[in-house]
Amino acid sequence: MVFLSKKHTQNCKFVHGRSEALLQLPKKCRIAEVGVLAGDLSEWILKNMDPSELHLIDVFYCDDFPDHNRFKKKDNYRFVENRFVSSIKGGKVFLRKGKSWDMLANYDDEYFDIIYIDAAHDYDSVKKDLAQSHKKIKPDGYIVMNDYIFYDHLAGFKYGVVPATNEFCVEHNWEFLYFAYHPNLFCDVVLRKIT
Ligand SMILES: C[S@@+](CC[C@H](N)C(=O)[O-])C[C@H]1O[C@@H](n2cnc3c(N)ncnc32)[C@H](O)[C@@H]1O
Repeated sequence: MVFLSKKHTQNCKFVHGRSEALLQLPKKCRIAEVGVLAGDLSEWILKNMDPSELHLIDVFYCDDFPDHNRFKKKDNYRFVENRFVSSIKGGKVFLRKGKSWDMLANYDDEYFDIIYIDAAHDYDSVKKDLAQSHKKIKPDGYIVMNDYIFYDHLAGFKYGVVPATNEFCVEHNWEFLYFAYHPNLFCDVVLRKIT
């Protein structure tokens, strides 16, 4: 287990939720959401962050959240495509269907201003998403990690987000900028390169 030093946390602000954290980040820039499901956060990003481009990366083969149940997995892609049809036609939203790390690898290096990571939560997958994101983020960009928690106590799954995130910060000299509270402690953390 890798531990963070003071330099990784000394500028970190605790905020009430992920929307408060995301609202502190630049507007009108290139954003990737890695792990989209129905596009609920994507819609919020479009309305509140006015991205120049929003790239939605997912396998798009997942049932909806059980409490919503808007689609079954075979209709996941079509649901999201319909939801953003006008922004897709307008050249603002792009759907990229496939494994997150493979899809990220297709972009030019230093392409994105913000990458929001919320796809597979096991350690190996988060490491791969972070390794690709490190290449694809601009030097002054932000990586946001969803579900910064060791264990999903609602579903009974171990998550690798905490160790993968901490290792990334220590290995690449990144710091925590915002720690966003979530009522069930599925917190988000916003990371940036230490300057
Ligand atoms: C928790 S949901 C995303 C929720 C969304 N970010 C939001 O806040 O509304 C996780 C999504 O990641 C996708 N996913 C899981 N592993 C993936 C992988 N390796 N590559 C691409 N997508 C993946 C699932 O299909 C699912 O749609």
